[in-house]
Amino acid sequence: TRDATPETAGVLVVGSGIAGCAAALAAAREGAEVLLVTKAEKPDGASTDWAQGGISTTRGDPESLKRDILAASDGTADPDAIDVLVEHADDAVEDVLLETLGIEFDETGDGEFDYTREAAHSDHRILHVDAATGTHILRPFLNHIDAHDRIEVRQDTAALDLITHEGRVHGVLTDEEPDGHPVFAGTTVLATGGIGALYTRSTNPDDATGDGIAMAALAGAEVEDMEYVQFHPTAYDSEEPFLLSEALRGEGAVLRNGEGERFMDDYHPDAELAPRDVVARAVETEREETGEVVLDASTLEGEFAEEYPAIAEKCRGRGIEGDEIPVAPCEHFLCGGIAVDENGRTSLDRLYAVGECARTGVHGANRLASTSLLEGLVWGLRAGADAVDSGAEPEVVEAPDLRNSDPDLPERFAAEKSVRLKRTMDEYLGLERDPDEIARASAVLRRLKGEVDAYIRTRTARDLYELRNACVVALLIARAAGENTTSTGCHYVVSDDGPTPEVREADD
Ligand code: SIN
Repeated sequence: TRDATPETAGVLVVGSGIAGCAAALAAAREGAEVLLVTKAEKPDGASTDWAQGGISTTRGDPESLKRDILAASDGTADPDAIDVLVEHADDAVEDVLLETLGIEFDETGDGEFDYTREAAHSDHRILHVDAATGTHILRPFLNHIDAHDRIEVRQDTAALDLITHEGRVHGVLTDEEPDGHPVFAGTTVLATGGIGALYTRSTNPDDATGDGIAMAALAGAEVEDMEYVQFHPTAYDSEEPFLLSEALRGEGAVLRNGEGERFMDDYHPDAELAPRDVVARAVETEREETGEVVLDASTLEGEFAEEYPAIAEKCRGRGIEGDEIPVAPCEHFLCGGIAVDENGRTSLDRLYAVGECARTGVHGANRLASTSLLEGLVWGLRAGADAVDSGAEPEVVEAPDLRNSDPDLPERFAAEKSVRLKRTMDEYLGLERDPDEIARASAVLRRLKGEVDAYIRTRTARDLYELRNACVVALLIARAAGENTTSTGCHYVVSDDGPTPEVREADD
């Protein structure tokens, strides 16, 4: 039974990465009562906590950062969105990360910030703490908002569906009750992160099932650029990968194939510092042709273990001795998502989206390193403030009733279906896509979604909703990939006749 007094919030934020925290903070600063719900039980349930390399600044030269973002995206990023990012980047970092949270980014001996560089950046402009920057940002951020008088943080609480009425979004149903617990909100901000759980190997937390994207799409919100799934070139080559930050290559580490040879010069004039999509495909090609690829950290300017203690520790934990780490590309980031404007507004009234689940236009077909934390911070702040400025008050409307007959669900149903989903995505919607195979994948995914939907009608459980969400997002990716026959950035189309001619060449 539902509470006699329905729960309301001025601003409801779903998700607890940097974008959700920033939205909550900005809304509370404007005087709103904020409820942040997150399915994470601990900080490392959000991808932000896993972010290594750092957060880009403009270092006083917004035009140069804009040029690099555009070039990495193969000219497909939206210049107006990039302007918003670069115009607000340094103030957001200064205000929130330095002044409010007091984050101590690494410094050089003389007290200046130790700006690092990553692939496709023309300058050293990235603030970092070791190569564990996300953890060092997110934990103080969560503590700060948790202690805020006007913000309530509710962990281990998943949003199952949006509450909509007459084309407006009025909050979400959470999984706090067996038949769904409605939270009615003036505005709802989705900050649910990425989609790593759609692939076998990912740098995201295990339950990154694209929840916000699926819920928004099911409610009729526009999504864009879903085919642009970014694969990081250097994750540890194992079924349980971990990221080897691009900062390593930015500071001198090189890639070698199974014959011990450097190869990136053959693929791009910027070699190891080429855009991520180019390096990822080159790594995969060399693995296929020579058996393995290693990241050689012996060429780093500093000592590997001293400069990158967190990564070195992970390597030791996996028994990796020496400076050569076997690597393979791995799902990392979705460049597309819920279409939003410069304030994070979606196409649905009273619904915002920020962070990885949103498509601002900043990344186009391929994201530049260390712009995701920045985008989450800048758009989170903008959306939180705009949500309050909109003046929308919570309204109690009729919420969907998820009451059900609760039949026995075959044990491990969701886990088994999830393996099928991942295999389909790995095989057909990975680094290279073939139009015939995309069509085959779509058929498998449609069948899978049908099976999941049949159970969702009879049983409300978080893992089933996550699986439904993953199926919805997978189908959106397959549809976008099938409709786009041009190879650009992360979307690389091959067929029996070879890659489509639009593919970037090394000597562009
Ligand atoms: C990395 O450290 O290589 C990841 C940075 C990013 O994805 O922006």
